[in-house]
Formats: sequence, structure tokens, C-alpha cells
Amino acid sequence: MHSKIVLLPGDGIGPEVVGQAVRVLEAIATQFKHVFDFSSHLIGGIAIDQTGDALPESTTAACKGADAILLGAVGGPKWDDPNAKTRPEAGLLKIRKELGLFANLRPIVTFDELLDSSPLKRHIIEGTDILFFRELTGGLYFGASGLEELPDGQQRAFSTAVYTTSEVERIVRMAAAAAVKRRGKLTMVDKANVLEASRLWRRVSARIMKEEFPTVEYDVVLVDSMAMHLLSRPTSFDVVVTSNMFGDILTDEASMLPGSLGMLPSASLGSSGPGLYEPIHGSAPDIAGKGIANPLATILASAMLLRHSLGLEKEALAIESAVKKVLAAGHRTADLVPRGAASLGTIAITDLVLQALAA
Ligand code: IPM
Ligand code: MG
Repeated sequence: MHSKIVLLPGDGIGPEVVGQAVRVLEAIATQFKHVFDFSSHLIGGIAIDQTGDALPESTTAACKGADAILLGAVGGPKWDDPNAKTRPEAGLLKIRKELGLFANLRPIVTFDELLDSSPLKRHIIEGTDILFFRELTGGLYFGASGLEELPDGQQRAFSTAVYTTSEVERIVRMAAAAAVKRRGKLTMVDKANVLEASRLWRRVSARIMKEEFPTVEYDVVLVDSMAMHLLSRPTSFDVVVTSNMFGDILTDEASMLPGSLGMLPSASLGSSGPGLYEPIHGSAPDIAGKGIANPLATILASAMLLRHSLGLEKEALAIESAVKKVLAAGHRTADLVPRGAASLGTIAITDLVLQALAA
């Protein structure tokens, strides 16, 4: 198979972890006789520095012509001025919108080998296997927003949560279809006791589930209550679907179940066209350039890329099992051990993944 993969390394630890994922993808290409063409493009803070734009036109064009996209991270303190004209994050939001990537899949799976790295108790988290579907191109992130000066010298700012019927339908359908292939359970999370937009979610998803997925066990949970249930009974969830903002917050919370943000990949998909794959950890500017970032989330994101965009299931499983082998052998990066304990760097742990792949 011959595929075009666009790399968007971005900021902070992004380039380091993407570089290691590319080594793993190249090994897969050799081993399974594929050809992957990589081309690297600008996004985020580095794009602002070099072009003045967090998402240059050339990057969007390259992404549209690709089979899949692997992103590192965007953002950092250098570009954090709240009065700045543009922000690195704007590049990420724009690429999601431009490519119609409305579904953000975030698997939250505990690795048996890492149960003791979690701040939560082993008996609660053991066996957790949740697949989040976060809506990614609507809601508070993209609704009307504004800032105005009031006559009394104050400022007034607003952001609105806007959803249409079809925006809810397509993400609920995708999540429910995933539930059918898993344990047959879907949980929809909203704030329907307060928000009009959530009441639309509730009506639309109840109808879709009744008409199209009658065999899926379906329930709804309010987002505040979900924040609690995620920590008290994570193993009772299978697939979870929710809006953009709630999904943003709940998946960061959920990332603590497996112990480290450094282990979690994500996929952003549309109804057609290339998918975008990234670790969920962000740019971690505090450790950028030190060679200690955990590349496993990005390596696992490249497994998702092979599975969802290139249809290469065997190859995806090969990567996932190589990562498991490395962890099972006791190897850890700094984020997975107590502060000060011995650990492996970004390149060294990738070397071990490559060895496990070749074995
Ligand atoms: C994420 C991130 C982004 C988001 C930021 C960087 C804009 O937190 O992918 O979860 O809020 O969507
Ligand atoms: Mg987030």
C-alpha cells in the first residue's frame, strides 16, 4: 500500500514525539511492505512565528491531499498573551473545521502493567475500557462569540453553545455504531437540566437510538454527575458520546484512569477524507527539548491512523502489542514513575518498541 501521511509536528514536545512515531511507521512500512510518503507542515506557534498564521494555506492544502495526518501538539507560554492577534490553538480548531473532523475518538484503556501509575485505586480502575466520542466542530468552541466595551468602562464577553439536529445525529450515529461492535452500551452526557442545546442533544439522540440502534443499551448522564461517576465506576462505561466542551474536560479527567496523559492517543474523523491523529497530552513546554517526553501516545496514535485511515488492522495491532510488551518488561518514561526514579528517554523507549516490533 502506498499512502501519503502529512506530519504536523507543531510546538513543544510535538516534534520529538512525532519524530519517534515516524520511526515506528517506517519500521511497519518495511516489515509489511508498504510505502508511506511523509511530508511535514507548519501548524500552531511555530507557524505563527514563521508565517504569521497558525494554519498557513499550504498546510491546509497538504492535509486535504493526504490519506492521513499525524499531529504532535500546539501551543506554549510564548504565544499565551490573551491580547495576541492569533493563537496557536486557532490553527488546530481551524484544521478540524476545514477537514470536517466532527468526531474525536478518545479511547481510555488501562494497561494492566501501569495500574499502579494511576493516582486512583487499582480495584476501581482495573478493566477500564471506555471509548469517548467527543463532538469536535460545534458547540461552545464554534458558536457565536464576542467582546464588547460597555459605557461604564467594563467589557462584556460571550461564547455560545450552538448545535443543529444533523450535527448531533451524525456523532450519535457514529458512537452508537462503535458501541454495536464493542460491548453494546452507549452513554450520552449533557446538561439538559440547564442548557437548551443539551435538550436538543437529548431529544435527537433518544430518537436515533430508538429508531436505528434499538439493541444498544442507552443511558444519559448529566455532565457534573459524569465527572463523579468516571472516578467511582469507570468500568461501567463502554462508549460515551458528548459535546465539544464537555468532551474536552471529561477526557482530560478520564486520562488519569490509565495513569498518564502520556499514553493516550486520539483520532479525529469526518464522514470522508483524511483523519487526523494526535496524542492528547498537548505541547508540555516544561519538558520540551529535554528528550524525556513519552512518545507512546503518539506511537499509539499512529496505530489508530493505520487502523482507521489506511485500513491496516494487522499493522495497528503489531504496534499496540509492541508497546504492551515494552511496558510489560517494566520499561517506563519519566511520566510513569515516581519523581526522581530511573526512567527511559524519548528515543530509548522507542528503540525498545522497534525491537519488540522486530521480534
Ligand atoms: C484538546 C485540546 C484543544 C481543545 C486545545 C489545544 C484547543 O485541549 O484537543 O483537547 O480544547 O480541543
Ligand atoms: Mg483538551
